[in-house]
Amino acid sequence: MIRDKHIPIMANEVLSFIDGKKNLSILDCTFGGGGHSKKFLERGHFVTALDQDDNSLVIAKKLKKKFPNIFFYKTNFKNINLLKSETKKFNLILLDLGFSSNQLDDFNLGLSFKLNSKLNMNYLGGNLNAYKIINYYDKYELQRIFDLYGEINQADKLAKYIVNQRSIKKINTNFELIEILRDSGVNFRSKKIHFATQAFQALRIETNRELDNLIEFLEKVHDYLDTSAYLAIISFHSLEDRIVKNYFKENKIKKNIVLDNKKYWGFENLTKKPLIASKPEVLKNKRARSAKLRVGRFIN
Ligand SMILES: C[S@@+](CC[C@H](N)C(=O)[O-])C[C@H]1O[C@@H](n2cnc3c(N)ncnc32)[C@H](O)[C@@H]1O
Repeated sequence: MIRDKHIPIMANEVLSFIDGKKNLSILDCTFGGGGHSKKFLERGHFVTALDQDDNSLVIAKKLKKKFPNIFFYKTNFKNINLLKSETKKFNLILLDLGFSSNQLDDFNLGLSFKLNSKLNMNYLGGNLNAYKIINYYDKYELQRIFDLYGEINQADKLAKYIVNQRSIKKINTNFELIEILRDSGVNFRSKKIHFATQAFQALRIETNRELDNLIEFLEKVHDYLDTSAYLAIISFHSLEDRIVKNYFKENKIKKNIVLDNKKYWGFENLTKKPLIASKPEVLKNKRARSAKLRVGRFIN
């Protein structure tokens, strides 16, 4: 079954940077449900799209019937250097990080704490999953991911409790995990979000190597940006946003100035503060509330 209900986030804000421009080559590194790609295609641009997701491949094939100028590759964006695409330099590269609503609703992926799926959370086809992490990581590894990726204050207490519980019985499903989180006695951060959010985020980031993918991609992306191209990145949690913010800061350049570090390229930061979704957009789409968009213009 094709899932196709993802609504593109901050699409108007992304489009505003290329308003009035024609025939651009755009690399959409996170095609998802194709929402952003479709907006680019409707404006006559050429789109190379990447995603690791099988459902995205099906949606892209469907889209190609109407818009022949879309070229889809099923791959992890960290492998941008292995892309066999005709286009080598792009005028806009977009990353809309994380998972799509289509994936959230997919029972087999187990990303939602509202569905009693088998522990999984692997949406990028790697070897790891949440079941292996929860049942086989040692206490210190569990503590590390809850601390670093979930920013859970009592990560040690939680890790210890999980190790104890799984010695009685393996933890198989999302609901079993949620019950353990509830019984652990750990103070989760916010009353505003579901108490399992931080632990789920930690497991998802670890399972899919989300931060490593982003870092590896950022190390390579400058080779694929044309002169004056835009790099636009939408992130959904502070860990990703910090990486993006630091990347633009470390590679900042003022026009016509070559950096001391012998790099002959850099970015003009176009979003001193990250852009956030408008109130009407957040009202229509709850996912937009945590989105942050940062954009840099490539100078070389
Ligand atoms: C938030 S959704 C993108 C939605 C899309 N912009 C739209 O409007 O439909 C993120 C997508 O990026 C994909 N993704 C996340 N990390 C990836 C990676 N490292 N490599 C390839 N695809 C990735 C996910 O599979 C998911 O489909």
